[in-house]
Amino acid sequence: GGLFGAGGRFKGGTDPIMEKFNESIGFDKRMWDQDIRGSVAYAKAICKVGIISEEEKDQLVEGLEKVREEWANGTFELKPGDEDIHTANERRLTEIIGPTGGKLHTGRSRNDQVATDTRLWTVEAERDIIKDIATLLVAGAEYAKKHEDILMAGYTHLQPAQPIRFSHWILSHLMPIMRDAQRLQDIIPRANQCPLGSGALAGNAFGVDREFLAKELGFDGVTHNSLDSVCDRDFVVEFLMWSTLLLTHISQFAEDVIITNLLKGVDIDDAYATGSSLMPQKKNPDALELLRGKAGIALGRAVGFTATLKGLPRAYNKDLQEDKVPLFEAVDTVKDCLAIATGVMVTMKPNPEMLLKALCPEMLATDLADYLVRKGVPFRETHHISGACVRLAEETKVSIDTLTLEQLQKIDARFEEDVMKVWDYEVSVERKCSIGGTAKSSVAKQIDDLVAFANSL
Ligand code: ARG
Repeated sequence: GGLFGAGGRFKGGTDPIMEKFNESIGFDKRMWDQDIRGSVAYAKAICKVGIISEEEKDQLVEGLEKVREEWANGTFELKPGDEDIHTANERRLTEIIGPTGGKLHTGRSRNDQVATDTRLWTVEAERDIIKDIATLLVAGAEYAKKHEDILMAGYTHLQPAQPIRFSHWILSHLMPIMRDAQRLQDIIPRANQCPLGSGALAGNAFGVDREFLAKELGFDGVTHNSLDSVCDRDFVVEFLMWSTLLLTHISQFAEDVIITNLLKGVDIDDAYATGSSLMPQKKNPDALELLRGKAGIALGRAVGFTATLKGLPRAYNKDLQEDKVPLFEAVDTVKDCLAIATGVMVTMKPNPEMLLKALCPEMLATDLADYLVRKGVPFRETHHISGACVRLAEETKVSIDTLTLEQLQKIDARFEEDVMKVWDYEVSVERKCSIGGTAKSSVAKQIDDLVAFANSL
């Protein structure tokens, strides 16, 4: 039995299996610093309303600083009965400063305490992740710029579609991550509200100044309803859902690179590949496969924890303790994936010859249709005419760009000598110069916008 488990009401001890089942110290000790900060602020708040004297407050704060030191230098010793980070810190505080330690929890509950710690921890993790995303975006934009001249095949339905720039393709994977950063910015203010001073459920019986607590702890404001405050885990759900979408985007990037690697269009750096224990020739893109795979369990965590919340009665219930493992795992996974994705991206070497090889003149069939459009023919008609050219090339087993002017004119008399200029990938790519297109100028604008955004993070 710990600080609370074997409290006055209880006669017998806790079943050891129950103790193990019930404890959260194994994982929530990660919030030791947030827990101590919360307690320091709370000591000040109950001093302000006269529950403890200035001297007692100083004693508490000094004691808490000593506890913090022990955590920081790795000498904090957990003891049997330390059920969670809150009981562990209070137990140690009381060992250090004596009975005054028992005054700290006046009017406070672990219910508002854990909600406060978890919000502080989450917001800090979220801000940290935004920095990691900025790093990825800046490094990725730089990488795209470096390779702006390289052309490659663009696909729809995994069928060769139209030529694009390699840099345009890279940027297509950075844009969703840019939106993820915006989304993360959106959810932080909702997480950054202070529930401390909500008590167990009904509010604080000593009239603590909650605005003061919020300010002390760096929150944007206070939560509005004590019942809601102790059981609101929306901020956890929002992060889990958010992480699922980010990891889904990273998964798509990974799959695209795996396919391009198969075509030998990129060479993945040895730092992110592994060999086979049996086949000496193998170089497997393990980093990318893991990046591709992480989104699956991430979705499971989001769905799983949301299901935990479904049907919970007001207010605090122990079910809520189940928030931390998925939250911590999600943060760790996101941080790992961002670091690995950044590394894989900027170290992979494009192979311009092989990327070019994956292009075929048939991918300029639209350009052939556009050629006639520029001569005044309606697109619906030119699409049909170009299709007939594709069929002729296919039937005569030649590449479409080797059809003679006579052959083309037999299909449509409006083809002229200058049609041969159509068979140029660079020209095709440069035609897409509207905003968001694959022309060099459009790609440059994307890079500029992306870097400007990343630098604003
Ligand atoms: N370890 C608990 C959690 O993570 C702290 C709150 C416990 N409150 C309670 N009334 N048992 O949710």
